[in-house]
Amino acid sequence: MIIAIDGPAASGKSTVARSLAARLCAGYLDTGAMYRSVAAEALRRDVSLDDTTALVELASSLTLRFEREGGSVLPTRVLADGRDVTSEIRTPEVDSAVSPVSAVPGVRQAMVRIQRELGAVGDWVVEGRDIGTVVFPDAAIKVFLTASAEERGRRREIDMRRQGLSMGAQDVQQRIEARDEYDTTREASPLVAADDAVRLDTTGLSADDVVDRIAALVEAVRR
Ligand code: CDP
Repeated sequence: MIIAIDGPAASGKSTVARSLAARLCAGYLDTGAMYRSVAAEALRRDVSLDDTTALVELASSLTLRFEREGGSVLPTRVLADGRDVTSEIRTPEVDSAVSPVSAVPGVRQAMVRIQRELGAVGDWVVEGRDIGTVVFPDAAIKVFLTASAEERGRRREIDMRRQGLSMGAQDVQQRIEARDEYDTTREASPLVAADDAVRLDTTGLSADDVVDRIAALVEAVRR
């Protein structure tokens, strides 16, 4: 069974998807981390973000692995060609590079191929932007998470502080809005809710509330 969780930046996808996967004993796939890894590697190798041929080559040849440590049931580390990129993919530099990189159709094809291979066996909670529309259009459950711009800015600020990065609230908000604008207006698999997705506005809801609601949808399908 595939549970697709899509939505804009900082809408709470990761927190909710991870917690839901743990609760359901399902796999958890963070497709944003895959695009971020390609962007991080492009920056490290000095690949120009305009060089679509080089970006597609990079995405097609990069080996991505999610690893669990310390008995965790969920992945805790992301490896790109064996290199630990877990922290690097959350830096402001990668944040700025990831939308242009993920707008390249050939990059998306390479990532979608891996995502479909992984999701072919077992139960998965998959989060991203195009999971319910493109990657798994037949997903059993499709959820489109949203939250007000202020709430999303606040959540991302807390994330960043946890990582030891500090940025003004206005700056954080502007960066989120710029990425959303890029992701919704690109030609290849733009960020849009699938027609059959359940839309959930998470403003003012706790992560547990949201997980409860999605778990109830899963229960209803399983029954
Ligand atoms: O965590 P946050 O919502 O900020 O972003 P993310 O899920 O880590 O995704 C980072 C970026 O990757 C997005 O802004 C998109 O440009 C891209 N992405 C995508 O194009 N398709 C996906 N399925 C997932 C992410």
